[in-house]
Amino acid sequence: MPSPKKSSVRIAIIGTGGMAANHAKRFKEVPGCTLVAAVDVSRERVEKFAADHGIPATFLSLDELLKGAEFDAVSIVTPDPFHAAQSIQCLKAGKHVLCEKPLALNHSDASKMVAAAQKAGVINMVNLSYRDWPAIQAVAKVIAAGRIGEIRHVEANYLQSWLPSKIWGDWRTTPAWLWRLSTKHGSRGVLGDVGVHIVDFATFPAGPVKNVYCKLKTFDKAPGNIVGEYTLDANDSAVMTVEFANGALGTIHTTRWSGGHANRLFLKISGTKGSIEIDSERSTTSYKFCAGHDLDKAQWITIDTKPTPNNYARFIKSIRTGKQDQPDFARGAEVQKVLDACITSDAKGRPINV
Ligand SMILES: NC(=O)c1ccc[n+]([C@@H]2O[C@H](COP(=O)([O-])OP(=O)(O)OC[C@H]3O[C@@H](n4cnc5c(N)ncnc54)[C@H](O)[C@@H]3O)[C@@H](O)[C@H]2O)c1
Repeated sequence: MPSPKKSSVRIAIIGTGGMAANHAKRFKEVPGCTLVAAVDVSRERVEKFAADHGIPATFLSLDELLKGAEFDAVSIVTPDPFHAAQSIQCLKAGKHVLCEKPLALNHSDASKMVAAAQKAGVINMVNLSYRDWPAIQAVAKVIAAGRIGEIRHVEANYLQSWLPSKIWGDWRTTPAWLWRLSTKHGSRGVLGDVGVHIVDFATFPAGPVKNVYCKLKTFDKAPGNIVGEYTLDANDSAVMTVEFANGALGTIHTTRWSGGHANRLFLKISGTKGSIEIDSERSTTSYKFCAGHDLDKAQWITIDTKPTPNNYARFIKSIRTGKQDQPDFARGAEVQKVLDACITSDAKGRPINV
């Protein structure tokens, strides 16, 4: 495995739209990490992005980048349909890869990415970004330590409101929102966009899904459900009933229609000895806990957590140490398998084993 010195990890960012600014900011916070190149199919966007973030080289394609720059790792921040091919191309070139979520459009492509990463023997991570929250890292440890006993019940939701509102601008005129509404543009709807996060958020502490029964819905949004080149046919809401491998039951749901909630993740896990809860609208650095004597009074305490490193810092640390951290591509593929089962379940109208 290529092993750059601690002082220098050179990153190229591929895709310079909305989320890429976050990648640039976070990588610049990691000592010794340098942004050396940026790539976008839009010359205007890539040049502005490079100027904004002090990046010396720009390219209009991944091929040009691989021929024209020296770097150790890539951060792939292009729309979902490009993740698989671009990751595999970079892995074949021996580059470490941090890829945006969802890892791919389906489990078959995600599995090819896992195989390519294993063959390349480099660091691979998928940016399931809510792993950055100290509360979820702490909750996973509390559950693994058995402090709520055997898990019986899980409630999880991810609520956004950009369809009935202009909270993040007008989706009708914004390509970054319109491609998310169109299957032709590679979107798997709210399920693929943020359902991927809430499935990871719930199953990271609660364990794998055994089977899922899912209903997806696409609501009317525009005359003929067409805006310019975009056919608005990707799902807006997803509701899942889940049985976990450990026998627990749960519900996981997500929508873009939840006025009043800009971007809320909620998770409650209940076991034989107690319950634990994260509500991002309350805090992402503390969680609520009810166990022991508090169970008889239904009384909750709030527990503050210690800071934890974000995915970007952990990706760089993995490159330096050669020790693969989570969430890796295999984890991204596991979550993808649940999403595929949701789509099959919705189409067939019955539960599907994962
Ligand atoms: N982890 C998170 O919380 C999070 C949050 C937002 C977005 N994302 C993910 O990040 C990715 C990008 O989302 P966004 O909101 O920044 O989208 P965006 O539409 O704002 O930006 C995408 C950029 O990629 C460029 N692009 C398109 N095809 C390309 C190609 N073949 N090669 C190079 N550049 C190309 C576009 O020109 C655009 O500048 C998506 O996969 C999305 O799911 C993740």
